[in-house]
Parts: sequence; structure tokens; C-alpha cells
Amino acid sequence: MDTVVVSIGGSILVPDDDDTAYVKELAVMFRELSKQLKLYVVVGGGRIARYYITLGRELGGDESYLDDVGIEVTRINARMLITALGEAAYHIPAETFDEAISAAKAHDIVVMGGTHPGHTTDAVSAMLGERAGAVRLINATSVDGIYTDDPNKNPDAERLANVNFDQLLEICLKVKGGAGPNVVFDPLGAKIVARSKIETRVVHGRNLEELRKAILGQEFYGTTVR
Ligand code: UTP
Repeated sequence: MDTVVVSIGGSILVPDDDDTAYVKELAVMFRELSKQLKLYVVVGGGRIARYYITLGRELGGDESYLDDVGIEVTRINARMLITALGEAAYHIPAETFDEAISAAKAHDIVVMGGTHPGHTTDAVSAMLGERAGAVRLINATSVDGIYTDDPNKNPDAERLANVNFDQLLEICLKVKGGAGPNVVFDPLGAKIVARSKIETRVVHGRNLEELRKAILGQEFYGTTVR
């Protein structure tokens, strides 16, 4: 059975307006796909993480403490997805890669959030992809691919259907200050998928049909990095 890591951005799982129907549909799809694939899902923090991090920063928290706050939120989001997945999933968010790999021996789906301060769940999904020997990593995010420029600011920005690892590194490393809402993949995550040549697919996480095709390795609407 092939192994696939799916990274679900927090903004997809916990959008501005609550959307339980989406989480239910996503869980049904993951359960179905887990009959043909070993699935690991990494969940981001979204607006709840941003809320606490902003608040904590105003209260004088240092950045790595605030990262720990973010990690806690990713694990709460992971628990929500685990609740929707039911029996198919390991019952708690794995906190380490070792735990995730061990749990996957007895469970169809393993969900995790963040691990350590200093990066985002993009990097976690890339490291997990390495450790689990994943054939591909799916970045289910709030954009439908990698663009030549920020599509929200530049109407002439074009979606790139295929990107190589060097181009991915160039795109992700040139962004000042590291991660942020317009960064398609965090720089550490990009370095890791590049060094292990893990095929990475960027797809809009709300488009379940395209997400399913991306996970299965079929043709899809988005960007493939390889
Ligand atoms: P996310 O992975 O959701 O980060 O983790 P993000 O890219 O800022 O959020 P999206 O993709 O736009 O929704 C939320 C926060 O948790 C901390 C970081 O502070 C991150 O910004 N975090 C997460 C870590 O420090 N380490 C981790 O392994 C994961």
C-alpha cells in the first residue's frame, strides 16, 4: 500500500465561518481513501492559532513560546478531525514522528499537528513524508496552486501546473520573514521535499474532487512539484 501525507491548512479546516459539513465530507473521503492508501494527515492552526498568537504577542510572549501556543492549537484542530474520522484514526494527535509511524501499524489514518517551535505544519508534513516513505505529499491549502506572482495582487499572475524542486526553493526562500498567509509552502518544508525528492502537490483544500484526485496520484487542478 502506498503512503501519502496530506497537509490540511488551518484556514481550510477552520475557516472564518464554521463549516462542520466540510469536515464531515473530508472525513468520509479520508476513510474511503484509507482502504487503498496509508494516510497521514497533518493539520494546521488557522484563525484560532492566529488569534492566540496575536493576543500572546501583545501580552509580551516570546516567539518560541507563541509557537508552542500555535502547536497546541494545531493539536486541538487535529482532535476535531480525529473525532470526525472515528474508528479509522489513531485516537490522539501523534506528537512525534516515531509515535505517528508506530500508530500507523495499527490504524488506517494517523493525524498530527505541530511538533517543535520555529516552523509550521508544512515542514512537519515534509518531515513526516520522509520518515514514512511517502510517495507524495499533498498540500491542501487556500490557493489552487503555485502562481508566478500573488494572484490576489497581480491579475496577470499565472498558475504553474509543474514546478521543479529548485524553482520551489527559489519561490519559498525569497519570501521575507518566512511563513505567512501568502507563502505556499514554508522554506524548511521546501528544503526537505527537495532533498528527498518527495513529489508535492498543491491543491485547493476546499475542492474535494480535486483533492481526491491529487491524493490518488491522478491528474488534478493545481501544481505538481517534482
Ligand atoms: P500552521 O502550520 O497552521 O502555520 O501552524 P501557518 O502557516 O502560520 O498557518 P496557515 O497555514 O496560514 O493557517 C500555526 C502556528 O503554530 C506554530 C507556528 O507559530 C505556526 O505559525 N507551529 C506549528 C510551530 O511552531 N511548530 C510546528 O511544528 C507547527
